[in-house]
Amino acid sequence: MSSASDDDAPVLEARGVVHRYGSGRTATTALGPVDLTIRRGEFVVVVGASGCGKSTLLRLVAGFEDPTEGTVLVDGAAARPGRSGIVFQQPRLLPWRTVGGNIDLALATGGVPADERTAQREALLEQVGLPGVSHRRTWELSGGQQQRVAIARALAVPSDLLLLDEPFAALDALTRERLQEDLRGSSASRDRTSIFVTHSVDEAVFLGSRIVVLSRSPGRIALDVPVPLPRDGTDPLAVRSHPQFAALRQIVSAELRAAAA
Ligand SMILES: Nc1ncnc2c1ncn2[C@@H]1O[C@H](COP(=O)(O)OP(=O)(O)OP(=O)(O)O)[C@@H](O)[C@H]1O
Ligand SMILES: [Mg+2]
Repeated sequence: MSSASDDDAPVLEARGVVHRYGSGRTATTALGPVDLTIRRGEFVVVVGASGCGKSTLLRLVAGFEDPTEGTVLVDGAAARPGRSGIVFQQPRLLPWRTVGGNIDLALATGGVPADERTAQREALLEQVGLPGVSHRRTWELSGGQQQRVAIARALAVPSDLLLLDEPFAALDALTRERLQEDLRGSSASRDRTSIFVTHSVDEAVFLGSRIVVLSRSPGRIALDVPVPLPRDGTDPLAVRSHPQFAALRQIVSAELRAAAA
């Protein structure tokens, strides 16, 4: 049962997190030290120079790696795989399964009973704007459609934590804008918490409820700011042309430049 205090508990709590790859003289410090607390419903966008540790941070939150130092708690327990939905830069769909088969696998892994999977899968595909494609082969879809399926698959994981690592980087500008709008729309007024990595400052300001800028490698938090833009039912064009949009864009760009110096 959830109470007010449960809702206030952080979804992510990273304390004194440092991550190194390798050991001895070949060790690379990829991240940290980083302290980061994320609460339910936040949409946190992480930006920073290439190699500063953004993917490493997501891997730690996903539980794919254990931090070298410090702790990463998801819903109060040590991060471990299966507790978050993940979207990678490439769709990474299983080509030998149909679109529906890819999503069913995530539902099955999440313990959804077989007789409930079809309805849930169709609802998820509807949510990403791809109704009725379950029977299709993944390779019959365009890159943008495949990425939408990957997002639906991530949403199929029975978790309110969504991790997205440059999910739109390889898409054409129009598809990218449309997916940004879908994602922003579906993340408003939800219990879902998202951590989204991007190199695009525009994308960060449009999508985020909060922006975290990491410094040059090893990444530390150089800037952590809320995004003062409306999230509910606001026309995307109105958001993009909001005076606060341009102002924040400038602040984040300047910090990125300073952090990379
Ligand atoms: N498996 C690994 N083994 C050794 N070093 C690694 C490994 N993965 C990442 N690194 C190193 O850790 C640092 C951070 O890498 P990471 O992938 O987190 O950066 P990033 O911010 O996601 O970069 P990009 O924007 O290019 O995706 C880099 O120096 C990278 O070379
Ligand atoms: Mg990366």
